[in-house]
Parts: sequence; structure tokens; C-alpha cells
Amino acid sequence: MLNLTPEQLLTTSRSARKRFDFQRPVDLEVIRECIESALSTPSNLPLPTWQFVVITDPDKKDKFAQLYRRAWDNHYRNLPNSIYTYTPDNEEARLTQQQLIESLEYLRDHLQQMPVLVIPCYAGRVDSSSNMNTLMTSPYGASLPAVWNFIQAARSRGLECAWTTSHLFLEQEAARLLKIPYEKMTQCCLLPLAYPIGVEFKTTSRKNIDEVIHLNGW
Ligand SMILES: Cc1cc2nc3c(=O)[nH]c(=O)nc-3n(C[C@H](O)[C@H](O)[C@H](O)COP(=O)(O)O)c2cc1C
Repeated sequence: MLNLTPEQLLTTSRSARKRFDFQRPVDLEVIRECIESALSTPSNLPLPTWQFVVITDPDKKDKFAQLYRRAWDNHYRNLPNSIYTYTPDNEEARLTQQQLIESLEYLRDHLQQMPVLVIPCYAGRVDSSSNMNTLMTSPYGASLPAVWNFIQAARSRGLECAWTTSHLFLEQEAARLLKIPYEKMTQCCLLPLAYPIGVEFKTTSRKNIDEVIHLNGW
């Protein structure tokens, strides 16, 4: 376990994709501990229906990485609000965009080299009939707290992790590859995991707090 305070853990969750150590193996027991931690998160059901697909087989990872790249190039890249289509309004934002694209593409190109890929799933399919449904009973509202616990448990054990979603453009094909029952289970994201090269934890850069806080009303 790393010696990080809760505050350090929560403010340094950058996706440091270029620091993944592809050579160092990740013990399955560590992944089991992270899933244990995920299971103790708030839940909308007494017995939550989360499932975690853990991929370590090189051939499966290779096929999955090909799928991820196809999803990225054929779908994500063309989205109206993707990082490629966003137009920065100053030089600093343009540099940030450039760095982020390089980092995202690095992961896209090296996904098969990650020691472990984890896909958290939730029983049911998305039903967006109402906002309440989406937040309370949808696969995302009910399972993303568990995903976040999993990520922080992994980070506190020294693992680096990136939150990704691009393969979901081809979710059905990924389900066939991994024998996930698509009609019954929603894949929430893909979490590639590896130990980092070096132990430098940088804080994330986000908006200034005064731009997002609304005291006693908007
Ligand atoms: C809902 C969601 C979807 C994301 N999808 C991807 C993805 O498909 N691929 C990827 O490399 N990162 C993905 N990310 C990670 C963000 O892109 C990441 O947080 C962003 O690069 C900002 O960088 P930072 O967190 O290191 O500051 C996703 C994050 C969230 C919350």
C-alpha cells in the first residue's frame, strides 16, 4: 500500500498513460482486493449486481485492443464533442489539447501491452425513460461509485489506471469476444491497469473552484 493521505489520493488521479510499466506483472490477488473495495461502495440494491470481467490473456488483450482502436478511429474521433473536434480559444488550451491527444493515442496504441484490463458490468440495459431512472436504477448511476472505489483501491496499491469508454462504441462485439451476456449486462467502462514507471503523483488540472461552486442556489 502507498503512503498517500486520502486528500493526496483524491487529487492526483491523473491518467498518466505514458507512465504505464508494461513489463511489471500485476498479481491477480491485488485485483481481487480492489474488487473487494468496489463491493463496499454505496448501492441502490441490498445485493448489487456488479460483475467484473478481468482480462489477462495476451490473445484476448490483443483482440480487445484491435476493437478499441477501431472504435476510436471510426467512432470517437468523429464525435461532435470529441477532443479532436473541440476548437481551443487560446494557445495554452491548444497545447493542453495536443498533449491530451498524444496521451490518449498512446494508450490506444499500447492497450494490448497493459498487464490487466478490467471491465466493470452491471445487470440490465440502459433505460433513460427519466432522469431518476438514469441516476438511481440505471447501470451507470448504480455502478460508477463501485468503479471509482475500484480505481482508488488500485491507486492506493501503487497501480496506475485510466478510465476509458471508447470500446463501448463496439460494446456488442466486445461482449461476443469476452462472452459477456450483452442482453443482460451493461459494460460500464474499460479500466487498463499497470504499475507506473516512477512514483511521481501530480495533481490534476481542472477549473478554478469559483467557476463551479454555487452557494445556496445557482
Ligand atoms: C466518462 C469518461 C470517459 C472517458 N473515456 C476515455 C477513453 O475512452 N479513453 C481514454 O484514454 N480516456 C478516457 N477518459 C479519461 C479522460 O479522458 C481523462 O480524465 C482526461 O484525459 C483528463 O485527463 P486527467 O484526468 O489526466 O487530467 C474518460 C473519462 C471519463 C470520466
